[in-house]
Amino acid sequence: MSEYEFIDHTYDVVVVGAGGSGLRAALGAAQAGLRTACISKVFPTRSHTVAAQGGIAASLGNMSPDDWRWHMYDTVKGSDWLGDQDSIEYLCKNAPAAVYELEHWGMPFSRTDQGEIYQRPFGGMMQNMGQGPEAQRTCAAADRTGHAMLHTLYGQALKNDTEFFIEYFALDLIMDDEGVCRGVTAWKLDDGTLHRFTAQKTILATGGYGRAFFSCTSAHTCTGDGNAMVLRAGLPLQDMEFVQFHPTGIYGAGCLITEGSRGEGGYLTNSEGERFMERYAPSAKDLASRDVVSRAMTVEIREGRGVGPEKDHIYLHLEHLPAETLASRLPGISETARIFAGVDVTKEPIPVLPTVHYNMGGIPTNFHGEVLTKKGGDPDSVVPGLMAVGEAACVSVHGANRLGSNSLIDLVVFGRAAGLRCGESVEAGASQPAVTDEMTASHVARFDRLRHASGDMNVADLRLEMQKAMQNNCAVFRTGEVLDEGVASIESLYDKLPSLNVEDRTLIWNTDLLEALEFDNLIGQAAVTVNSAANRKESRGAHAREDFSDRDDSEWMKHTLAWVDAAGQVSIDYRPVHEYTMSNEIEYIQPKQRVY
Ligand code: FUM
Repeated sequence: MSEYEFIDHTYDVVVVGAGGSGLRAALGAAQAGLRTACISKVFPTRSHTVAAQGGIAASLGNMSPDDWRWHMYDTVKGSDWLGDQDSIEYLCKNAPAAVYELEHWGMPFSRTDQGEIYQRPFGGMMQNMGQGPEAQRTCAAADRTGHAMLHTLYGQALKNDTEFFIEYFALDLIMDDEGVCRGVTAWKLDDGTLHRFTAQKTILATGGYGRAFFSCTSAHTCTGDGNAMVLRAGLPLQDMEFVQFHPTGIYGAGCLITEGSRGEGGYLTNSEGERFMERYAPSAKDLASRDVVSRAMTVEIREGRGVGPEKDHIYLHLEHLPAETLASRLPGISETARIFAGVDVTKEPIPVLPTVHYNMGGIPTNFHGEVLTKKGGDPDSVVPGLMAVGEAACVSVHGANRLGSNSLIDLVVFGRAAGLRCGESVEAGASQPAVTDEMTASHVARFDRLRHASGDMNVADLRLEMQKAMQNNCAVFRTGEVLDEGVASIESLYDKLPSLNVEDRTLIWNTDLLEALEFDNLIGQAAVTVNSAANRKESRGAHAREDFSDRDDSEWMKHTLAWVDAAGQVSIDYRPVHEYTMSNEIEYIQPKQRVY
């Protein structure tokens, strides 16, 4: 047997990734009677969804009047009108049912005195089509909502006979000559074997790529492996220039302090003790949307009003809140602040800084989860056999800026949609064309090349160079000059790739090789991100250009599509934004100026 002989598996559906969207898609496909595999590089309940804190948005109306149309309005406005309104309608209309489904599956939500699901205010969530007052729309399980959700979904996926392949690292998509996705290859980390999963549908649920940046709230596992597989398959990623900075990462450590802390009454101050958000967002104040708050904090620091010896961060105050609220609603971040900032939140403020948190961009899909590309003039051409959900996907409901708590709801609404689509379009047990060695030869070649990389630079050094370049050159505020510098830095990193060295040549639990594969995944995404940002000459949502400070709907109301070749050269094209809704239950929400 050659060292790289594949072990073959055949399923109706294979899901890559076992976070919230992957588990929801997998259990949906299994419920539809399809033989479904879910492969994951970590144990499912260690997927990054576990770290989500503040909650999941749905217009239940338990604690304030609410309506899915108000949720839709806020999401469109939050997206700075780059979101596709058909998909946003699908999200907001289906959100309440998706939350009740989780409740019925046993998710331990916090409760009101009446026993209903507890809902807190979150940034940019308003009543009355943006008129206000604020809507309490974010359903929460204390500040451990993702943890509660992930465990609930894993239990349901097991109950529905999803077959798990745990600690398998996905390598590449198996694409045939017609551009149909036939499955995926993977490396089993604990015994070094290689595996080939053939499936009628392959669903990528591999999360974001926060680790392309130096300081992020994302787990070390967030390396966007599915996005990178899509790029290597010659397909584009969409809207990668839109990277969300969460206002309250712990200064230095980067750990997330939930926006729910401001939803519960927390507020930010500068070195003068001023609640400066009142100046930037007179109406929503500390609960303006994340891009607005992150920019305001950055301006305060730049203008010399940061706190601490180096005046380089901001304070988040929770010490005025009742101890009972902190203990029951925010126990997780109280502990995180103690461990990572040495702060007792009942007595002193938490030092915080805008920190990379979420990728609005990703694999373009429609609201069924089918991957799209631009082909023969059709901007919405479906890639047969390939689907994507969750943060890996760009549906696009978040457009240029995601509202807090719209991520968890995206996971379950579109995970469910993908499962339903599989149920409609996949015939259980249908025979599939054989996958040949030729189709997977490039996967093996890449794996072997990285395994035997014998230059003089280790992965950690190259990765750090990339992370610093992205952090400094693709930040909260951007200029053409700084972005071009970032493009050049990433290009020069591509030139250094032949210098990569992988010390460990074994195949079993080879974390050196694993990190090399992850870095190789990240660098392509870094290239498309910084190039897309340099290319978009306007400011919209999280993409704030100081040299083009206005939103320019006449020129830039369009999605960026970006491809990268093996040498790191990026090419760019566009798809139109869907300026229509899904049904006649709501009209297209016309663009206007975005103020909070
Ligand atoms: O602040 C938070 O709890 C994060 C929520 C989100 O990103 O949706």
